[in-house]
Order: sequence, then C-alpha cells, then structure tokens
Amino acid sequence: MNVTNSIRQLRAWSAVNKGPRRVFVPTMGALHEGHAALIHAAREIAGQSGNVIVSIFVNPTQFGPNEDFEKYPRTLVEDLAICRDQGADMIFAPKAEEMYPPGRSIQLVETSLSKALCGATRPGHFDGVCTIVTKLFNLVQADDAVFGKKDYQQLAIIRRLARDLDFNVTLHGIDTVREGDGLAMSSRNRYLSGEERAQAPALRAALVLARDAWKKGESDPDVLEKLIAEHIQQHAPLGQIDYISAVDAESLQPISTTTQLVVVAVAVFFGKARLIDNIELK
Ligand code: PAF
Repeated sequence: MNVTNSIRQLRAWSAVNKGPRRVFVPTMGALHEGHAALIHAAREIAGQSGNVIVSIFVNPTQFGPNEDFEKYPRTLVEDLAICRDQGADMIFAPKAEEMYPPGRSIQLVETSLSKALCGATRPGHFDGVCTIVTKLFNLVQADDAVFGKKDYQQLAIIRRLARDLDFNVTLHGIDTVREGDGLAMSSRNRYLSGEERAQAPALRAALVLARDAWKKGESDPDVLEKLIAEHIQQHAPLGQIDYISAVDAESLQPISTTTQLVVVAVAVFFGKARLIDNIELK
C-alpha cells in the first residue's frame, strides 16, 4: 500500500498504475467499520487488477465557524491499518495547504438540495463538500466512487454534482453499518457520554417504527415525522431534535406524485454530538 500527502506524487503514481478500473473512497479519516465497508466495497468493484484509492482529509471548508474542525479526531496510524486490511492500494492524505493554496478564490455553491435537512443547520457545509469532492475527483480521475448512505443528503448532492458538472464517474451508495444496538457508526459517536450513548439507538428504533407504519399503509409525512419525534422524546430525553423529514430521496423536496422513493432523515443533538440517520421507505 502506498501513502502520500503530495498531489505530485499521487499523479505520478496514477500515471503508472492504470489498472482496468480505479475506485475512489473519499474520507475524513477517523475510520471505523463503516469506512472499512466502503473500502471493502471499493475493492470488490475494482477487482484484483483494479486500483483502490482512499483519501483522508479533514476538509476545513465544510466546517462552520462553531463546529468541531479543531476537535475532529485525527487517527492516521489506525486509519492506515484499516485501509491496509481492506486492500487499498493508495492513500492520499494531504495537508490543508496542499489542497487549498494561499489566495484561492474559487469555490462551488450548491443552490437547491443543500437548503433543507442538514444544510439548514449547517449553512455552507455542502458548498465545502462539493468543492473538495470536485477537487478530489479531478485529482484521482476514478471510474467509480463509493459513499456511505448514512450521509444521505451528501450522497444525493454528490450525485447532482456529478450530473451537473459532467464527472465521468459511477457513484455507489453503500448501506450504513450499525452497532449491535442499531446506532449508525460515526466518527462522532466518540463524543457521546455513557448516558447519551445508551439513548442514541432510539434514532434507529424510531425510524424502524416509521417504516413499519409505512408498510402498514401510513403515507402521511406529518404522521410519520410525529411518530419518530414521540419515540425519540420518550426514549432519548437527552437528545434535542434538529430535524425529522420525510422527503423525495432524489430531490430531497417534499414528497410528490413523481416521488419514486421516500427517505426519512433525522438529526439529533446529544450534547456536543450531532447524530444523523435515515431510512428508505420501500
Ligand atoms: O463524508 C465525508 O467524510 C466527507 O464529507 C467527504 C465526502 C470525504 C468530503 O470531505
């Protein structure tokens, strides 16, 4: 496995490692089993003769001024071990100066899908995500890229980014990996106190309740959202609901007659941690 923090070296390696298929997994590090599943999926897509490139970069432009950029866990040694175990070929772990030269004056702005859900509480976040993902797509020149479905809004926005900016990359959304009690794995779970951690699985339980109701014929988004809110309030009193929203899975807009798939997304603050989760209704 190769590791570099340099764009020049990444390009040099890419020039001589032209496997039949190059698959990219962008991450911010602090890798856990959820990321391991993404890299594993990338390895399967690439096949043994293809290449898997993982980026590890805590991207400053996607953090708001009062967010956890400084505190975001940085665990490069452990991250590299996970990448190696999952069969990655190249790790690109640049410093901020490498990705953002002084005096930079261009960035992307997303004007629609980022306005609701997480974007409403995190203005500018998805502009930062679009900017860094564009830069990484340009650098890596992958045939395929793998993202987790836990960040459902991010995946929808990156699908739109690839479509609108004509990236020739196939995007793969991978199912969320969960702890035994249903809590979605997240680098931010480590911020939870013992008591918060004990209550946090209520998010998943509430989403499953909504899915059960949907399967029994309940299709009113307000009713589904209320069901989820009541469950979280009852079983996770330390949680402060940021949003609960049942929307069209592609446009992230209210459900309409053209909706093919509904997703219910939630975000809940537990102290310093803001946890997100979602469920597709099929
Ligand atoms: O999902 C993440 O870890 C980040 O938002 C991403 C896609 C790597 C961009 O920094």
